[in-house]
Amino acid sequence: MINDLWYKNAVIYCLSVGTFMDANGDGIGDFQGLMRRLDYLHGLGVTAIWLMPFQPSPYRDDGYDISDYYGVNTRHGTLGDFVEFTHGAKQRGIRVIMDLVVNHTSDQHPWFQEARRDPNSKYRDWYVWSDKKPSHAKKGMVFPGVQKSTWSYDKEARAWYFHRFYDFQPDLNTSNPHVQAEILKIMGFWIQQGVVGFRMEAVPFVISTKGPQVKKPVEQYDMLRSLREFLQWRAGDSIILAEANVLPETDMEYFGEDGDRMHMMFNFQVNQNLFYALAASDCRPLVQALKATKPRPATAQWGLFLRNHDELDLGRLTEEQRQRVFECFGPEKEMQLYERGIRRRLAPMLNGDRRRIELAYSLMFSLPGTPVVRYGDEIGMGDDLKLPERNCARTPMQWSTEPHAGFTKSAKPILPVISEGPYGYQHVNAAEQRRDPNSLLNWTERIIRMRKEVPGGRLGRL
Ligand code: GLC
Ligand code: CA
Repeated sequence: MINDLWYKNAVIYCLSVGTFMDANGDGIGDFQGLMRRLDYLHGLGVTAIWLMPFQPSPYRDDGYDISDYYGVNTRHGTLGDFVEFTHGAKQRGIRVIMDLVVNHTSDQHPWFQEARRDPNSKYRDWYVWSDKKPSHAKKGMVFPGVQKSTWSYDKEARAWYFHRFYDFQPDLNTSNPHVQAEILKIMGFWIQQGVVGFRMEAVPFVISTKGPQVKKPVEQYDMLRSLREFLQWRAGDSIILAEANVLPETDMEYFGEDGDRMHMMFNFQVNQNLFYALAASDCRPLVQALKATKPRPATAQWGLFLRNHDELDLGRLTEEQRQRVFECFGPEKEMQLYERGIRRRLAPMLNGDRRRIELAYSLMFSLPGTPVVRYGDEIGMGDDLKLPERNCARTPMQWSTEPHAGFTKSAKPILPVISEGPYGYQHVNAAEQRRDPNSLLNWTERIIRMRKEVPGGRLGRL
């Protein structure tokens, strides 16, 4: 029975359509390009793809500022292309999950536009307002150093609105039943287009109480149950993978005592302590983190990762531990971000040292949980610290030695391809690594196969 739970036996690969493969030569990755690369992913052995946001968006936060939940951004293709893609993935036995970004919308979303224009609009209460500037407006920022506050004044609405993230991402009032119903509708819509689940972003914030009077937000965990229930009714095998960087004490609130809330959560505890272990050659805190995150219902599963599209968040380590990781993996100020993390890619952090990269991956692939690989890490891609904030580690996939790494035929790709230094595409690209049996790419393919063959890993009970 437990073998039916595909997500326990999955190898997830996360990618952003916009920087993966451009088929029509306009410099922006698209679904047709991604479709051409499905055989590459299949060959690598990944069994699920997690797509970063691809819906219409002003792209001020790399698509995490959505202005229409029910569409595909024309720069990536059409809804038709999307369904062709999910079908193509399915034919190869690859499942597709996608980001569910419902803590906030873009300020350009018609709901927010109407809410700010008309106080009597039904959408007014879809957001979180205050007549006066709340006293705690300068608290609780997720991007300290860049984001100045969590409340901003909107001239048109003549009121202050709440935004946990950037000011162009007004928070949805998630305790409003209409907003809750809309979230289910969004999930239901994409399930019909062929996805089998969601990576739900910022879950603790989505389920928190929000408002000018709320000094200490309280999580409404029961909301998670209704999301799960709905999803399971619509499609029994679909899942939610929660982004929730929380303390082990609250893990069970997210999984649910009876396993009736989130199917999966990213293991941020293990992630941070794993980097500490690599930096300090001290695995005791990692062992502790593994023990602390052990209790969970039989159907629940951890998502394990090394690097993702955000900064490596070290906020849960002690000050001393964090400094140790900074010293070792991100000593320069420009490598650090938001007063708590490192924004580099994996390979440069490990000095491009093959043995250390293999050690890090061997750990990830053998610890209890489902591995989540970031695109480009299978070939050891680097970063471009000239790009702002997290964009440095979001550069286009390096396919070959052709101009722009074979990512695009355009003169100007959406983000510059890394073309200088040891991580330039002339040295690091998929085509050359395919031909070399000892390349990192082929090593990754082999470890993925090994992982699938070890049943203990499957069940996350090592
Ligand atoms: C999530 C995403 C991050 C994004 C943020 C705001 O945490 O991982 O990339 O900036 O949500 O939407
Ligand atoms: Ca394109």
